[in-house]
Amino acid sequence: MRIALGSDHGGYELKELIKAHLQQRGYELEDFGTSTTDSCDYPRFALAVGEAVAAGAYDRGILVCGTGVGISIAANKIPGIRCALVGDCFTAKATRQHNDANIIALGGRVTGPGLALEIVDIWLGTEFQGGRHKNRVDLITEIEKKYSRGNDRE
Ligand code: RB5
Repeated sequence: MRIALGSDHGGYELKELIKAHLQQRGYELEDFGTSTTDSCDYPRFALAVGEAVAAGAYDRGILVCGTGVGISIAANKIPGIRCALVGDCFTAKATRQHNDANIIALGGRVTGPGLALEIVDIWLGTEFQGGRHKNRVDLITEIEKKYSRGNDRE
């Protein structure tokens, strides 16, 4: 599985921890930054990781900012991205089974390192259940198409 990683300064330390954890487990990783704790803009990293995942260059993406909120909002603006902000193990599993989330967002200032790594492991190890959940994900895609640039808004 190929995974794209990104964070702003608020998520930098947790992103580095996740990177080391996943490297140990043999995942194929690409780090889209940031690479220091200097203040930077989370939408830039959401865009880089989101575009790479939406293009199919990576199977999944992991984004971290201070709360996980800003970076998840930004990633969800990209067509084809279903980015879930997760802070517990139940949601980590459900957002794969039910929502087919292709990016997970975490809050580096919110979720402790032990829980964050557990969340990531569960999320990476859980498959989409399809069935009725596919119909719902397809409806999300229809909303996305309705509001894509160039489409009429009713
Ligand atoms: C940066 O200070 C902070 O606003 C950012 O990391 C994130 O929490 C935004 O949602």
